[in-house]
Formats: sequence, structure tokens, C-alpha cells
Amino acid sequence: MEHFDLVLKDATTISSRGKQICDLGIVDQKISKIGTIAESSADKCINLKGLHILPGVIDSQVHFREPGKVEKEDIKSGSTAACLGGVTAFLEMPNTNPPTTSLEAHQVKLDIAGNTSLVDYGFFLGASPDNLELISTLQRKPGLAGIKIFMGSSTGNLLLEDREHVESVLRNTDLPIAVHSEDEQMLRQRFDLVKGSGRVEDHPLWRSPEVCFKCTRDLVSIAKKVGRKVHILHITSEEEILFLKDNKDYCTVEVTPQHLTLFAPDCYKELGTLAQMNPPIREKHHLDQLWEGISNGTADVIGSDHAPHLLSEKEKIYPSSPSGMPGVQTLLPVMLDHVSKGKLSLERLVELVCFNPAKIYSMGQLGDISEGKRANLTVVDLKAERVIENSWIASKCGWTPFQGRKCTGWPTMTIVGGEILMQDNVITDSRRAAPIEFL
Ligand code: DOR
Repeated sequence: MEHFDLVLKDATTISSRGKQICDLGIVDQKISKIGTIAESSADKCINLKGLHILPGVIDSQVHFREPGKVEKEDIKSGSTAACLGGVTAFLEMPNTNPPTTSLEAHQVKLDIAGNTSLVDYGFFLGASPDNLELISTLQRKPGLAGIKIFMGSSTGNLLLEDREHVESVLRNTDLPIAVHSEDEQMLRQRFDLVKGSGRVEDHPLWRSPEVCFKCTRDLVSIAKKVGRKVHILHITSEEEILFLKDNKDYCTVEVTPQHLTLFAPDCYKELGTLAQMNPPIREKHHLDQLWEGISNGTADVIGSDHAPHLLSEKEKIYPSSPSGMPGVQTLLPVMLDHVSKGKLSLERLVELVCFNPAKIYSMGQLGDISEGKRANLTVVDLKAERVIENSWIASKCGWTPFQGRKCTGWPTMTIVGGEILMQDNVITDSRRAAPIEFL
């Protein structure tokens, strides 16, 4: 008789086969059966009637600060925040200290995550003028998500602004390439607009839509020339999203929950420098176009761009205050609340945070609920209502731009490799985290 380590009964599952009420049987960290399963065949059986099971949510853009700035975040605290927020896997950016620009630096992160991460993990290698040769020799391996290019400088000193260098990366690797798209030259020229201003509401004036659009146009033309796709991170402007709609053969597109939720000038009045990030939060008409991009398929992915900074740093006078806000823990509740308000369907959200990140980065084992896949699952209660509070935030920064926001729709269980890591907001200490396999 068949036997399961864990059986989840009677939940509504959302998978690439659609919506279905069924039982899931898990054996050896994998989903081994989808259908009707007898309770008696399981070591442990949980009835999830009335709840939804999503494929494990993947946050494909986070900045944890280890090594280098562990007072802001480390892989343990960042992955704990992920787990509480229903996120089962993350891809982490290379702008740590030292930056992740060598295989040795990448291995350091894999080793730390192997010992401390609660959820599955992958790390980017950052492109710099000094490691183009290395990039051309890289092979896919577990835990190596792809290459990150900063075309405009943000937190840290990673930068690849020379268009020939960018072309060389696109031409010489098959790994996924994720790009921060702001034009460095324009950023330098326009800095005088905010130098000494002390006004964070000027942030979108300095890092304007034109700054992003110029870079995004250049990037897409390089992608066309080389004949490959690039993944463009955190798109913020009307101009870019309309342009990218017509260039989907050459790019995939990420937007963030904060650019879909907060807008200028209100966010700067309410949150001050806590709303400061790169690229910036902009006026409402930009937000409306990003939502249009969610509806019409231009946007492929929602990633949090989790970028924690301490409140003591955020208190500095703009523009000395650092850019970035935490988000890995609030990504899912904030987006489920948009689902509850009818801004997008649950199925579309699952495409954006499960199917598509898994496809873009070729995570063969993740992103869907099907027999044989790794048992990473996120259980949500679409009716649960709670208020996001700073006291709930596990990130070492201890704050969220969504403090005080009431959300309808909350994760109630985070399952990684068949192990229930979080249930009703309580974390267990059984870890099954593994480096993500990229095929
Ligand atoms: O605002 C931002 N902060 N944007 C980035 O691209 C980097 C991030 C950080 O690491 O602080």
C-alpha cells in the first residue's frame, strides 16, 4: 500500500493545470501523488479545507546583506522573513561586501546558506569590467541563479555602464541575465538636482523616467543585436512598460509590490526616506500603467527587491539616506490584498510569483504543483484579515513601508522540501533548505 510522509487534504490547489480541489501526498521531499488519498496512508495528515495551496512562492529579487553588512540582514534573518511571508525560495543579489563577482565569493554565500537558510536559495554573480572573462566560462550549477548587471549605480559599487561590456555579457553566456536599468551618465549629470536638497520627494526627479527609459532602450537594442532575452528588474515608468510591451521577444519584465501599491507624492509625505528606493516610486499614472502591464501580460514577474537598511541610516538627510526598503515578508500579503480587491486574479498572481520566475531561471524542480516536483508549497487563507505591523517583521531592519496596512489574504503555511517550516506564523526548526537546481 502507498505510504506518504505528509498528506494535505481537501485544499484548492492552483497549478498549471488550473484550479482543483484535491489531496497532495508527499514522499522524500517531493510531491508524489495528486488525487484522492486515504488519511491512513500518511505519517501526518492535515485537512486544509477552505484554504488554497499555491506552488511555493519564489522571490526572485532580494538583497540580503551577508557577507559585509550583517547588522542590516543576514541569510538567516532574511530567509526567516521569507518563511513568515510564505516565500519558499529566493534569488539573492550580488551587491554585498565584498561583491559576489567571483566563484569563491559565490561559494561563500552557498556555504552560509547551507548552514543557515530556512528556504531554498540561489545567488547571482555580479558583472563588472574585471570579470567578463570569468562570466564567459560559467556553467549552470545548483545555487547559481545567473548574472546581475547594474547599468546604473545603486547600493554598493557594482557597475557595468559601458555598452560594449554589457554586450559582451549578453553574447558570452547562456545564463539568465537580470538588469538594473538606469542610465549612469544621466544619473551623474542630474545629481545636482538633489545635491543638498534635503527633499526626498525630489528622488524621482533625479532618477527620472527618462533616466530609466534611455537605459532600457539601449539594453533592448543590445539584446536585439545579440538575439537573446534579458530580464529587466523593477520597471517603474509608463514609458518603459509601454515600450517593453512591443519588445517581449527580447525581454522579460519584473515589477515590485511597492511600485504597484505606493505612489508619489503621498508616499514621500507619509514615509519620508523610508519610501526612497532605486528606481524610485513615481506618480499614480505610472502605477496605473504598471497595473496595465500586469493585466496585458507585459509584466512576467513580481519580485520584492527586498533591500533592508537600518532606521538610523534612513534618518540621514536626503540624499545621504540609503535607497531601498524591505519586502520579502510582505510581498505575498500585499499582493493577496490586491487579489482581494480585484486588481488581479489569484491565478495571475501564481504566474507572476511561481510559474514565471521558475521558467525564466529554469528552476525545473520548482514553481508548480505536479507529481515529481520538489514539495515547496505556500498555503494561503484568502479570507484572513490582519494588519501588517513593524513588530511582525523578522528582517533585522525591523520596519516595513506597509506598517499599519490591513491586508485580506495571508499565508498560513510555508512548506519547503515537504517540511512545514511555518504554520500560523510560528516557525519550526526543521530545515530542509537546498540550493536551487537550475537546469
Ligand atoms: O533601492 C535599491 N536598493 N535599489 C537597488 O537596486 C539596490 C538596493 C539595495 O541593495 O539597497
